[in-house]
Amino acid sequence: ITATAAIVAASFTANAAAASCEEGEIVIKFAHVTAAVNHPKGIAASLLESRVNEEMNGVACMEVYPNSTLYDDNKVLEAMLQGDVQLAAPSLSKFEKFTKQYRIFDLPFMFKSVAAVDEFQFSDAGQAMKDSMQNRGLQGLQFWHNGMKQLSANKPLILPTDAEGLKFRVQSSDVLVAQMDAIGASPQKMAFAEVYGALQQGVVDGQENTWTNIFGKKFFEVQDGITETNHGILDYMVVASVDWLDSLDADVRDQLLTILEEVTITRNAEATMLNEEAKASVIAAGSEVRELTVEQRAIWVEAMKPVWEQFSGDVGQENIDAAQAINA
Ligand code: LMR
Repeated sequence: ITATAAIVAASFTANAAAASCEEGEIVIKFAHVTAAVNHPKGIAASLLESRVNEEMNGVACMEVYPNSTLYDDNKVLEAMLQGDVQLAAPSLSKFEKFTKQYRIFDLPFMFKSVAAVDEFQFSDAGQAMKDSMQNRGLQGLQFWHNGMKQLSANKPLILPTDAEGLKFRVQSSDVLVAQMDAIGASPQKMAFAEVYGALQQGVVDGQENTWTNIFGKKFFEVQDGITETNHGILDYMVVASVDWLDSLDADVRDQLLTILEEVTITRNAEATMLNEEAKASVIAAGSEVRELTVEQRAIWVEAMKPVWEQFSGDVGQENIDAAQAINA
C-alpha cells in the first residue's frame, strides 16, 4: 500500500464514519493519540464506539479518531472546552493545567502494579478525583488502564548513572520532569506523535512508556533496548466537558455513561495482558529487554524517590499514605 493510498484509505474511513451519522443524532467525537489496535485505549475506544452506535442508534453517533488524527493530547482539552470534540482519554500526566491531584500517579515507584493503581482509583479518594476539574469545565468519567512504564535510550540503562546527561522525552508533566532531573538526565516535554521522529533523529536520546506504546509506535526500533523498570504508571482519564454533559437529556447521558462504565470494566481487565503481549512482540522483533536485579532496581528507587517530597503538597500526604498501604 502506498503512502497516498494509505492517506486516501484513512480519510475514507473518517468520512465513512462521519457519513454514518444520521441527521438529528448527537455526534460524539472521541479523539486520542495511540494506536487503535493491540492497545488498551485503542480497543476500549473502538468498543465504546461500536456499542454506542449500535445501542444508541438514532440518538447518538460516535466517531473515534485515533493516532492523533484529530488532536494531540496537548490540544484536545482546549478543543473540548470549545465544543470541538466531546470525549478524550489523555493520560493522567496531561491534566496538570486542570488539576494537580493526578500528580500522585506520576510519582515514581508510587504504585507497585496496575492492580494497586486500580484499588487506589476505586477508593473514595480516587473516585473523588474525577470531580477535581469541574471548576475548570471538565468532568472526569472513568479511569482507563494502560500499564507500567519502562525506560529506554540509545544506550543500555542498568543504573541511574547510565542516564546521566541523556535527553529524555517526557509527557507534559512537571513530576516527570523532576523525575528525570533526579537521575541527572535532561527532560524534554513533547507530544506523543513526535516521539518516534525525535528518537530517530537524536533530538532526544531516550523515553519512558508502556509496552503497548513502545510496540504500537515502534520506539524500540530507534532505541538500544528497553529496561524493564516498571517505575511508574501510565493510565488515562476519560473526560468530557461539564457543559456538554449538561446539554444532554438525562436518559441519553445515563445510557452513554452506563455503556462507558461497562466498557471500562471489560477493557481494564485486559490491559495488563495486552502489555504482556506487546512486550513479547518487542522481544520477537529483536529488541533487547533488560531486567534489573533487585539491587539494581533499589538504586533506581533511591535515586527517583526524593521527588515525592517536592510534590507531597499537591497530592496530599494522606493520598501517598493510602497508596503505600495498598502496596503493602
Ligand atoms: C504519551 O504521551 O506517552 C502517552 O500519554 C500516550 C498515550 O496516550 O498512551
